[in-house]
Amino acid sequence: RPRVLSGIQPTAESFHLGNFLGAVRQWVDMQETHDAFYFIADLHAITVNPSAAELRRRTRVSAAQLFGAGIDPERSTLFVQSQVREHAELAWILMCNTGMGEAARMTQFKDKSAKYGESSAGVGLFTYPILQAADILMYQADFVPVGGDQKQHLELTRDLAQRFNSRYGQTFTVPAPYILKEVEKIADLQDPLAKMSKSSSSPQGLLEVLEEPGPLRKKIMRAVTDTGSEVVADPENKPGVTNLLRIQSVLTGTPIPELEARYAGLGYGAFKKDVAEVVVDAFAPIRERTEKLLSDEAELDRMLAVGAERASAVARETMEQVRERVGFLPRR
Ligand code: TYM
Repeated sequence: RPRVLSGIQPTAESFHLGNFLGAVRQWVDMQETHDAFYFIADLHAITVNPSAAELRRRTRVSAAQLFGAGIDPERSTLFVQSQVREHAELAWILMCNTGMGEAARMTQFKDKSAKYGESSAGVGLFTYPILQAADILMYQADFVPVGGDQKQHLELTRDLAQRFNSRYGQTFTVPAPYILKEVEKIADLQDPLAKMSKSSSSPQGLLEVLEEPGPLRKKIMRAVTDTGSEVVADPENKPGVTNLLRIQSVLTGTPIPELEARYAGLGYGAFKKDVAEVVVDAFAPIRERTEKLLSDEAELDRMLAVGAERASAVARETMEQVRERVGFLPRR
């Protein structure tokens, strides 16, 4: 079985529709056919300095949502990144094999650091993609299911794997991104040219998995659509309508042309109403299961400990090889 690995940051109380369609749904599907490793990227989350209480809470909410969305702890290994100490160690080794210019080219760093001003942005934000490479290479992943915004990080990961292999001898699998075209960039409902994002979307532009049906419906009904009244996919001229069509299409498994035919002559109102129901129906069971899992934190922590145990076994094996290749003296 090919191996798949991916991670998500616990940076908010709830995942949003972009996370769910761009990544988590594929995670759930791939556990049927792949040897699956998924994790909550809490080491990445501290690049923006949440409080300890916030981080703990969000890490648990994230875990509960992933189990709630259908990650099956029997078939998949779901763990918290900081519980497997090797991630930070491998990140250091990879940093020593990364050029400053290479790291500085990462556009996500440029975007994120712009908020703080160049010299006050944290060093962790700068080295963030190298830690991500460590996450992936640690598990010898063949595929990494992510949204389109992670493409550049995946390219860096591939470069670092190839460089390490040629400097120190064949050690790492060179991973391939797994990105589904139709969901690689779910757009902000209020700004359909921008991606839906926990850090930059307005509350009206963001659909959160743990939200109540009422606000979800309201936001979809008020989503920015485009001039005209026809429900047709046209990314250039009708990015808002196209975004909603993609959402309805993937959530119902209905091809877009079929949806276009269904709403011919009906206008935006009827269409949006249906999109709203589809989203509410997709989120409601996840929210219910998430709440149930959060009501027993001890059990949730125990499930995560099982995941960390299985992940650690793989990480230990990789790091034994890496240390030997790099020339670190074994402790006897
Ligand atoms: P994060 O936590 O920002 O997002 C989690 C996943 O959701 C995808 N995504 C989207 N997909 C489509 N449309 C959107 N609007 C949208 N917004 C977010 C992201 O592409 C991602 O797949 N750096 C990663 C976390 C990470 C990771 C890793 C991922 C750390 N180590 C190793 C893969 C492998 C991140 O910040 O994702």
